[in-house]
Amino acid sequence: LNNGLALTPPMGWMHWQRYRCVVDCKAYPDDCIREELFREIADEIVNNGFKDAGYEYVIIDDCWASKERDNNSRLQPDPKRFPSGIKALADYMHGKGLKLGIYADYGTKTCAGYPGSIEFLELDAQTFADWEVDYLKLDGCYSDILTMELGYSLMSRYLNQTGRPIVYSCSWPAYQEPIGIHPNYEKMSEVCNLWRNWDDIDDSWSNVTNILKWFSDNQDRIANYAGPGHWNDPDMLIIGNFGLSYEQAKAQLAIWAILAAPLIMSVDLKNIDPKFRDLLLNKDVIAIDQDPLGIQGRLVMTRGNIDWWTRPITPVIQNETSYAVGILSKRVDGYPHRVNFKLSDLGLKNPSGYKVQNIYESSIEAEMLKPNDTLLIRVKPSSVVLLKATILDEQI
Ligand code: GLA
Repeated sequence: LNNGLALTPPMGWMHWQRYRCVVDCKAYPDDCIREELFREIADEIVNNGFKDAGYEYVIIDDCWASKERDNNSRLQPDPKRFPSGIKALADYMHGKGLKLGIYADYGTKTCAGYPGSIEFLELDAQTFADWEVDYLKLDGCYSDILTMELGYSLMSRYLNQTGRPIVYSCSWPAYQEPIGIHPNYEKMSEVCNLWRNWDDIDDSWSNVTNILKWFSDNQDRIANYAGPGHWNDPDMLIIGNFGLSYEQAKAQLAIWAILAAPLIMSVDLKNIDPKFRDLLLNKDVIAIDQDPLGIQGRLVMTRGNIDWWTRPITPVIQNETSYAVGILSKRVDGYPHRVNFKLSDLGLKNPSGYKVQNIYESSIEAEMLKPNDTLLIRVKPSSVVLLKATILDEQI
């Protein structure tokens, strides 16, 4: 969507994966969906370096609304959990240099049963603009899936009409793809800034690898629609929660970066283990994700349950790019598996060669390699080796 927003994949935090629809604040004061949670998360984002690293959007997912619209048919937040209102929360974010996102649904109800927007798309767009919201996730439960192309496009126009810059996150492929419909990605990239392609992520490694399998199986159909202003979205980062080991978390971040995926955390930032916090703050991985070329990477080689992913990145010399290379092991035999390969196996053919750095192991010295030189690396089970191959313009 050409609205000047999301020129690189959006970065931020969203409550769903970690906090779901906990609305009983008496029983679960630390987990429930209420305004304090978002203010506290915003404080963590600013005070712990996340804002400086690029995380910007604090996004409220489902279960924020009152079960009834107000007398003017407007959506309203639950009065007990959001007594100050959404506008006040937006002000809080803006005061900290952050942005606020919110959730609505294209159908008659949200996935968790709160009021849907189908009869009120224009009114809801205006309400969100009046509240000075900066990002909208429009989900697709309880809707007529066949009308999504039209309906999501209409909502895009209504958002635009408000005059407020609002990042628009669509969910229409996540409803069409599973029933075998190939959505119109051309149109989607014109009307949406990002779109959820596939299943919800849950808190496990198998979720991560299943989503990656869908992304690689369908890469020839979807990857070219990613670019500045419009991105495929494999869903939230689950890093720092209960389900991923540290090695698996490194792998999720690395391959999300190669996919030019939105980096939307969903984790308790107040109690996150510093090791996972530092991972989420890794500047080199974030730089790959946010690379200005905006090209989505692809799976280019698989050998023995190890996948090689590559993404063209800057710097570029005479139409030849540099690359990020992610070597993802899905193996479970417990030793760091040894693999040999050549950059030319992956399509990296610059005759002058590349400077190859190991992003997660900065103590390993960079190597100058020609396309046909052999690299020997070791990759731990369910982990990744992330390399940056910077193009050289002189013979080495
Ligand atoms: C759907 C979406 C999730 C989340 C929930 C909320 O499942 O895919 O990301 O927004 O709805 O109910």
